[in-house]
Amino acid sequence: MRVAVISAEAVPYSKTGGLGDVAGALPKALRQIGIDAFLVTPCYWQTKGEYLWHVAVDDLWLTWRGRPYHARAFYSEANGSPTFLIDAPSMFHRDSIYGYTEDYERFAFFNHAALELIKRLGPPPDIVHLNDWHCGFAAVELASVRRHDPYWRRTRSVFSIHNMAYQGGFGLGELPALGFTSSFARNAFNFNGYASAMKAGLEVSDTLSTVSNRYAHEIQTEEFGHGLEWLTSRRSDRLIGITNGVDFDVWDPATDPEITANFYINDLSGKLECKRDLLERFSLPIELVRPIYASVTRLTSQKGVELIRQGAADILAAGGFFIALGSGEKDSEKFLQALRDHAPSRVGVYIGYNESLAHVIEAGADIFLMPSRFEPCGLNQMYSLRYGTVPIVRSVGGLDDTVENWNAVTETGNGFKFGPYRADKLLEKIYEARFAYEDKIAWAKIQRNGMSVDNSWENAARKYVELYCWTLEN
Ligand code: ADP
Ligand code: GLC
Repeated sequence: MRVAVISAEAVPYSKTGGLGDVAGALPKALRQIGIDAFLVTPCYWQTKGEYLWHVAVDDLWLTWRGRPYHARAFYSEANGSPTFLIDAPSMFHRDSIYGYTEDYERFAFFNHAALELIKRLGPPPDIVHLNDWHCGFAAVELASVRRHDPYWRRTRSVFSIHNMAYQGGFGLGELPALGFTSSFARNAFNFNGYASAMKAGLEVSDTLSTVSNRYAHEIQTEEFGHGLEWLTSRRSDRLIGITNGVDFDVWDPATDPEITANFYINDLSGKLECKRDLLERFSLPIELVRPIYASVTRLTSQKGVELIRQGAADILAAGGFFIALGSGEKDSEKFLQALRDHAPSRVGVYIGYNESLAHVIEAGADIFLMPSRFEPCGLNQMYSLRYGTVPIVRSVGGLDDTVENWNAVTETGNGFKFGPYRADKLLEKIYEARFAYEDKIAWAKIQRNGMSVDNSWENAARKYVELYCWTLEN
């Protein structure tokens, strides 16, 4: 089976969040179980030159906005699978990967270029695996061209939702300039008089998936559907949840080169060294008995920063350190900086994006806070489990599916989970975790329960293969 995975970001070429982790790892995991998978992604200004192995296609001539447009494609296997990176400087050489008013045009272009490139690469893929709103354009283009283009006739599309909150909206009047002139395309994109790339992907892709079982149900409700719940409900017979995996080549305390000492499920001594290192890096006193509560996150309302803000004083009163790595909404950045200024011997803050520090924090912290308002899957709680860092999460989406609340009687569970989106509920769990932390035997059990969970990509990749097969047959 031949599968083309298309994504706006993919590790190690580009990353702003979990989508990058997933798109980098999935094609490799698919290849490891015998699928002929390859990845197509943009070549950004941020993509490191060392990853661009050679030029695969030098003359990718496209028609764009009625004019000839010249693009290229680089080749790499830096993520462990064949990868083609579309090089179109006017579209992708920018200060940041997203955040421009014309993003819809940039990714419409990327999708068109990706499909044209795939045609140049050899036999048609059986499956084109599309990710998030950035790939809604390819869903429509594929559904249209396969009616008359024999190359695409048998290709089917799978559309994965990583986050319903981002929908890629723009004016319907822009569609003809992007090459979408049919009423089929207009209907697909039309969402209450605007164009939505997410809605188009959901509407016309052959099957839909999302990144956890619980989120697959949540997005059919008003609370989590961001206005598209009617469509996900209508297509629920073709929608499935597949929980993301962890790329153990990148996130494993036994081999991680970013951390000061490696550690293992049966020997956690290295974790204490990592804790010391983490405190040192943030110039905090080396008080190893105090728990470190940590957070690594995009600072958006999705991530429940508001609850941490409301509970901050009590979190510190509970007697721990608090370390945060994040960037995003200015309000939240200011709040974290003010918190550090208020308690410089107990709080460490790094505003910005720092891949290496994310590893150092996962390894050195005791407790990871992830009180998300909604969370399609969430990767950090899974990294935390693997690194013996006990997660406190809200029971939504993938957080609910991957974290089991600790039960001291049965000695089962690997973290702490609360329901209502309220600071006092988060605090209850913080105190519960603090209590368990004092009992060294119980704590080690919680850590080991988490470290032994098999969140490998192999499991997830096998489920995708089942989905691909089902898609081809139905
Ligand atoms: P989301 O994709 O919604 O941001 P996930 O938990 O799925 O949430 O994935 C987040 C990914 O981004 C993780 O790999 C995490 O380590 C990383 N990340 C988030 N913020 C930062 C940051 N400031 N610095 C480094 N890595 C970060
Ligand atoms: C999105 C979601 C996150 C998920 C990631 C990868 O960014 O917010 O929950 O883990 O995609 O699927």
